Amino acid sequence: MAVLLTGGAGFIGSHTCVELLAAGRDVVVADNFSNSKPVVLDRIRKISGRDFVFYETDLRDADGLRRIFAENDIDAVIHFAGLKAVGESVAKPLYYYSHNLTVTFELCKAMREAGCGVMVFSSSATVYGQNGKMPLGEDSPLGPTTNPYGETKLMQERIITDLQRAGELRSAVLLRYFNPIGAHPSGLIGEDPNGIPNNLLPYISQVAVGKLPYVKVYGNDYPTRDGTGVRDYIHVVDLARAHLKALDYAARKSCVRAFNIGTGTGYSVLDVIKAFRDASGKKVPYRTVHRRPGDVAECYADPSLAAHELRWKAEYGLSRMCEDAYRWQSMNPRGYEEQ
Ligand code: UFG
Repeated sequence: MAVLLTGGAGFIGSHTCVELLAAGRDVVVADNFSNSKPVVLDRIRKISGRDFVFYETDLRDADGLRRIFAENDIDAVIHFAGLKAVGESVAKPLYYYSHNLTVTFELCKAMREAGCGVMVFSSSATVYGQNGKMPLGEDSPLGPTTNPYGETKLMQERIITDLQRAGELRSAVLLRYFNPIGAHPSGLIGEDPNGIPNNLLPYISQVAVGKLPYVKVYGNDYPTRDGTGVRDYIHVVDLARAHLKALDYAARKSCVRAFNIGTGTGYSVLDVIKAFRDASGKKVPYRTVHRRPGDVAECYADPSLAAHELRWKAEYGLSRMCEDAYRWQSMNPRGYEEQ
């Protein structure tokens, strides 16, 4: 029996693949490298000392998906594949809605045909509405979302929920990630954004290695301790391990359930810059600029449901997240591009 990882060559997918292989699970990865590089597959093999099956395929292709299920004995799917750049989704909404939803429709059809009834879905804290009280519990109001990317996550949660309730999936777990950062401690796999990073951590990392001159801090007039935005950063290895717990849960239960995956602690932009400086010993110059449209002051999780039901808890703190992110960035200053 194998687990299929759609988008398994991406940042979170690759770390989850490593943890599954380490746990002795058989893995099938499907990815079209739209936001990842083939070399990541060798890095996963190097870290784990194990092999896995790989398909280079666009998951909107029904025949390609059918073939994957026909050629492998897949009993569960972890569904990561999807476009995820917030700004791009605002500029190209049709592309985002069409791509992300088509992948999920085709995947669910292929699972139904193959009799595979277990899904763990890569969702996001972005599904919660803007005015939710912190910390966010799973029962906090959903939507309205602030961008098409976020809306596709909410829509996919709904689609998967309806399928489970109609008996088309036996069990589904929706993992609502907060802000995944860090990298595998080997320094062999990590986050490799295309172009100038949008997210804080890859941006800070590139400043620390001298690729970018300074961090732009988006606003210092939020109603937070130091005026900068507060988020719940989660080490990607902790996040990857949550997927294994979610698979165990889905195997035990027949239900659909959402879980927050965060540490429960909020850190400000300035906290993160300081932690990164301390972890790397590098200078991280910054300048305060205007707020970024669409940002909220604070977003952090109540992760107690995951602790109770999934038996999962984050192990790593912010300094370890920064240490591992810096190791990855300094060992791979050009990401996965040939050095
Ligand atoms: N920030 C900066 N400078 C930067 C980038 C970010 O000051 O160059 C600040 C932001 O204003 C925010 C914090 O750093 O306060 C975190 O920003 P990120 O862009 O790293 O992350 P977001 O919280 O905006 O968004 C992330 C994911 C989304 C996901 C969301 C879930 O990128 O995909 O968390 O809440 F939807």
